[in-house]
Parts: sequence; structure tokens; C-alpha cells
Amino acid sequence: MSSVDLNARIPNNVDLKTDKKLQRALEKWLPCYQSWWGEVGPELAADKEVYLRTAVAVDKDGWAHFDYVKMPEYRWGILLADAVPDRKIGFGDHYGEPAWQEIPGEYRNMLRRIIVTQADTEPASVEQQRLLARTAPSLYDMRNLFQVNVEEGRHLWAMVYLLHGYFGRDGREEAEELLERRSGNADKPRILGAFNAPISDWVSFFMFTMFTDRDGKYQLLSLAESGFDPLSRTCRFMLTEEAHHMFVGETGVRRMVKRTCEVMKEFPDADPREHGAIDLATLQKYVNFWYSISLDLFGGEVSSNAADYFASGIKGRYREERQEDHLALEGCYVVPQLRDGKMVDVEVPLRNAMNEILRDSYVDDNQRGVDQWNKTLTQEGIDFKIELPHRRFNRQIGIYSDAEFDPKGNPLDAATWASRKDEWLPNEKDREYIDSLMKRVVEPGKIASWIAPPIRGINGNDFDFEYVRL
Ligand SMILES: [Fe+2]
Ligand SMILES: [Fe+2]
Repeated sequence: MSSVDLNARIPNNVDLKTDKKLQRALEKWLPCYQSWWGEVGPELAADKEVYLRTAVAVDKDGWAHFDYVKMPEYRWGILLADAVPDRKIGFGDHYGEPAWQEIPGEYRNMLRRIIVTQADTEPASVEQQRLLARTAPSLYDMRNLFQVNVEEGRHLWAMVYLLHGYFGRDGREEAEELLERRSGNADKPRILGAFNAPISDWVSFFMFTMFTDRDGKYQLLSLAESGFDPLSRTCRFMLTEEAHHMFVGETGVRRMVKRTCEVMKEFPDADPREHGAIDLATLQKYVNFWYSISLDLFGGEVSSNAADYFASGIKGRYREERQEDHLALEGCYVVPQLRDGKMVDVEVPLRNAMNEILRDSYVDDNQRGVDQWNKTLTQEGIDFKIELPHRRFNRQIGIYSDAEFDPKGNPLDAATWASRKDEWLPNEKDREYIDSLMKRVVEPGKIASWIAPPIRGINGNDFDFEYVRL
């Protein structure tokens, strides 16, 4: 197992001290990163001690070291999963060839585009979540928010290391631009749509960490298959951190569902809103919104870019080793398309359907989480089921974005969509109600009215542990 140099200015397990040029470049980028963090990183956190997890090694146990840290002093580092000896490329036209330790010239631009797109989401989410500590429902939740924020910051480091280390001057320029774009900024927006939507309430935060961070998981899983070995190793370690973000989202929604059930049982004839809880219909609308905009992040259903990424060995499928045919030159994938108001099955060459194949794994994974929420509803004896809307619903990207579909996936005319969309997506009144609930609760052991406490706290501590020293 590789050891982490924790005393270096930039903690790392890539032997940075032996590459002076790279070390200097990254040490020059460090203060720029710190000033970005100070400017648009989490509010309220600057001088507070937060009970955070830091990586001290990259093996199973070593990355979960817990202690109080002031966030600006968090030790962001460069951590790659250990190399697999003699690793071979697992798919595409270079199947079976040794994995690349340097970038093949012909794929340089493609790789750069993919790394920059992934990198851009990391600082974007920190910016989107900047103000949430103001309205944290408990200290436990505030701590989880900060944990997610510092790890997204570290993911930016992970990608910037690749840009600086393998792309020369263009890489350094890209790294600078990553700190210049801003989520939601009209002149310099972040690259992907979902990363420009503000996350100004905690319902959205939990939905984002459930659905949007899970898109991240699948992008990282497919890049972990990459023939470019440093990218693969980087993504493999990032995945261990990403798991906590989705835990925050999945359990966050589950705790909201639980709280609503408790209120519904106590006041069976009242609207849960009268008692400061979030009615299930509103939670369903937030699911519809965040799930659909996260589906967009996988890109078009039929995509020649996706085919090129696969062919070149840059981006594989989810768990490529489980596939039988790693070339994907034969066979096709059926994508239903809207023709004259009817859905028609259209066969697409397999390589062109790679986005859709990855989206399939993502959909299944979300369903597993939703099943957990529905288990809570059953346990509480409440007759309601949360459902994922159909993948055609409310899409802004891909072949379903030109038409409207209901949550079951049936095509709709524009007038019906306009008259019914408030039933399916959060409307102004819903958002106003959610905003009215967002009040900060920071006494250890106390929690807001609209969410249940977690079953257990962090790292064996109780819920009433002082997770943030305010
Ligand atoms: Fe991330
Ligand atoms: Fe994340």
C-alpha cells in the first residue's frame, strides 16, 4: 500500500516531492484555491471547529480519520487508489493492451474535455451549497454539509492534479479557469446545467446529494474503467468519499419521510404543513425535479461522443468486468423515440448507446434508495409510495427534451403540460412553504420540526454530540 506524505504542504501519495516542477505548479495553485474557498466556500464556517473526516491513507481504514478541524485549515490532498500491477485496458479498440501511464497524443483533447467537465462539478456544488449552514436543521446536519463541502474541494484537487501533471500549459490554464467560473453566473457559468441551479434549502440539498451526487458516482465508476491509469486510480479513491454524500442524501430524505409520517399519525385529519412537516406530495415533487435534472447529466441517449469515449478506451461501462463482450461492436440497444405522437422502438448501435446504458445502472440504483423510503412508509403504516418519474419526464437534454411527457412517460401536448406541471414539480407556493421551514437549529441534540433525527450519529457518536463548535 502506498503511504501518504501528510507533512507535505500538499498531502499526497504520489511522491510529489520527487517532481519539483509539478510540486511548484500545485503550490502556486494552492493559494488561489484557498482564496476561492474563502470567497465562495461555506458561509459561517471560517473560524469554527468541525468534526471532520480526513484521509490519512488510501486503504480501507486509513481514509476515515475523525477530528475537529477548522475548515480553511483542512488538509486537502492528492490521493490515488493503489495501482493494479500490470493493469490492462478493459474495453474498446485497445482492449487487452497495457493501461496508459501517460496520455496518448491522439486522445489528449478528449481526455482533457472529460476531466475538465468532471472537475467543474466539484467546486460548483460547493458554491451552490454555500449558504446552507444558515438554516441547518441540526448540528449533525451542518457537520455533514461541511464534510460534503470539503470533500468536493478535495475532488477538485484530484482533477487539478491530473490537469497539472499530464496536460502541461493547457492543463494549468484549465485549472485556473476552474476557479474563475461560478455556479449560476450569467457570464461565467459552470459547465453543466444542474450545477447552476441554486441549492438554497435543505430539501434540495438532500435531493441533490441523493440524485446528483449519484450521477457523480456513475461518472466516476465509468472513468475508473479508463485506460488512462492515473484517471482510473484518482476516480477509484474519489468513489470512497462519494459514498458518504449519497448516504447524506438518502438518509436525509428518509428522515423527512419519517417525520411526516409521525405528524400524519398524530394529526390524521390535518395537513402536515399545519404542524411544520413536509407533506408527501411535496416531497414527491422535489424527487421529480432533482431526479429529472440529474438524468440529464448523463448526456444524450444516442451519442457519437459516448461511442468515441468507449472506442478509445477512455470511458467504460459500469463494472466493465461483468460484461461478456468488451468491444461492443455488435448488437444494438433499443431506444424508444417519439414519432408523430407515438413511441417507436429504434435500434441504436451499442457504442452509441453508452450514455443510456450507464443511465440504466443509475436508474436501478436510485430505485433501491426509493425502496428504502417506501419501507419507512410501510413501517409507519402510511399508505403512500414515492415513485421515480419516468426517465422521459421533464428532460432538458437528449431526445426527450423536445417534447413533454407525464411522470409515467406518456407524451403530452404543450397545453396539458402547462396546465398540469404544477402538480408534478415544485411550484412557487411549495417553494415558499419549504423556505418558511428553513430556520437554523444549533443546540446539540435539537432538531427542526420537518425532519427526524438520524438513527445514529457520526463515527459512533450520538446525535447530541457537538459536531460543530459554534
Ligand atoms: Fe465530488
Ligand atoms: Fe459528491
